[in-house]
Amino acid sequence: MRKHFLTLFDLSSEEISALLKRALAMKSGIDANRCPLIGKSIGLLFEKASTRTRVSFEVGIYQLGAHPIYLTPHEIQLGRGETIPDTARALSRYLDAVVIRTFGHDLLVEFSTHSSVPVINGLSDLHHPCQALGDLMTILERKGRLQGIRLAYIGDGNNVANSLVEAASLTGMSLTIACPEGHEPAPEVLDRARSAKGEIIILREPKEAAGRADVIYTDVWVSMGQENESEKKKKRFEGYQINSKLLSCAKNDAIILHCLPAHRGEEITSEVMDGPQSAIFDQAENRLHAQKALLEMLVAGHS
Ligand code: CP
Ligand code: NVA
Repeated sequence: MRKHFLTLFDLSSEEISALLKRALAMKSGIDANRCPLIGKSIGLLFEKASTRTRVSFEVGIYQLGAHPIYLTPHEIQLGRGETIPDTARALSRYLDAVVIRTFGHDLLVEFSTHSSVPVINGLSDLHHPCQALGDLMTILERKGRLQGIRLAYIGDGNNVANSLVEAASLTGMSLTIACPEGHEPAPEVLDRARSAKGEIIILREPKEAAGRADVIYTDVWVSMGQENESEKKKKRFEGYQINSKLLSCAKNDAIILHCLPAHRGEEITSEVMDGPQSAIFDQAENRLHAQKALLEMLVAGHS
């Protein structure tokens, strides 16, 4: 059956656990020569810039034996007014899955309604579920478990934070978010996670969130598409920086995560990013392994 991956809640806790196990096995080199997607083609339709998502998907698709096709709206007829449903119907006749990076989550939902092949969210304004898979893999790899892990997210309640809210509720991590008032994760995401028994605490004081944390996570204060709010947001988030003083509030063995790209000196200092507790570049690498496991689950299992 066709299955889309638009938010982390499109997978069950059991599926996430199996996927992470498979991703860790793939990283260890198991089945390196197996090509479960041989003969398939996967589209990457990107409206926004990307370093990690684009390259990790292109490389992962190639390693699984399939062919990636990178598309931007301006290179296809979407940019000249062809509708989303018509584009989805036509692309479904050639491709075996489509990864989409878009400004509007609505576009993903509309595209997936008309696509007969799996649609994967490669980042929308509301969610970044592929990032959350890489994050979960990194936490599991470093801490040996997810259940009971204390995750502190300091910063903007954006797409990355929304997906972490879902990740926490699906895996039994407790998530504390410190953000300025008005910058919380999306209410509908919080409500759904809390009704699924997610332990999500929102507070204002970064030190309070970081206290006794196993993992400290941040993201940029100004996401793609918010450039006109840049100065206002930077002022609002003063005091929400991850620096060595804040890190000293967390457990001694706490790790630091950042989805990247980072604005060094704003949401995080170089000292922390490049310091011994940073797992940030393992986290970037793990996007590749987690997405390969995702593609195997969604595309090799789809006929
Ligand atoms: N973290 C992440 O999605 O990075 P890119 O924007 O470079 O893809
Ligand atoms: N919140 C950031 C994440 C980039 C990977 C953005 O949307 O720009």
